[in-house]
Amino acid sequence: MKKMVGGIGGAMIVGLTVLLVGMQVHAEPTRATMPDIDRLVHYTTVTRGEVTEHIMTTREAIEAVRRGEPIPNGTHVALVDYRGGKVFRYFIMEKGENWGEDYAENRRTADWQFQWFKPDGSINEAENTARCQSCHMSRSDRDFLYTFNDMRRFEFE
Ligand code: HEC
Repeated sequence: MKKMVGGIGGAMIVGLTVLLVGMQVHAEPTRATMPDIDRLVHYTTVTRGEVTEHIMTTREAIEAVRRGEPIPNGTHVALVDYRGGKVFRYFIMEKGENWGEDYAENRRTADWQFQWFKPDGSINEAENTARCQSCHMSRSDRDFLYTFNDMRRFEFE
């Protein structure tokens, strides 16, 4: 009898471990947080078919890029993806001091971390942000940003 209880407990522990390991692979919390979108400067728009992307960041980041200086820690860059006039998702990059150390060198995008937020502000648990990093890595000479030149050319009103 005692042995049977132990067996069930063991099976439960194995089940729980599988669940936790599975969650680490899929839901991937990162340090990147959802910014206050209304406080960011909308510096460029990319449209592709049904998709309209408003791309924004802080005034300080734009000023730094215009001066040829590094983008400061604490900067958010947001890509607000609209479909049918409604927010479909938020793609967020955020930079913090030594955040790159969280990742192995072959995955690292300097001190930027990435996240995909749903319109309700929750994270997309099906995304693994290594994908974001591997694509943005090709822009390592532009601080990992595709729209770096739009930022550099942006004129404040
Ligand atoms: C297949 C390549 C690819 C992947 C994967 C990718 N991106 Fe991007 N990202 C781009 C491109 C290209 C742009 C420029 C805008 C455009 O063309 O839509 C961009 C733009 C951005 C921007 C605006 C700043 C910039 O770089 O211009 C943010 C923020 C962003 N992506 C976040 C993310 C996040 C978060 C993920 C993962 C959930 C992700 N990206 C995955 C290619 C990619």
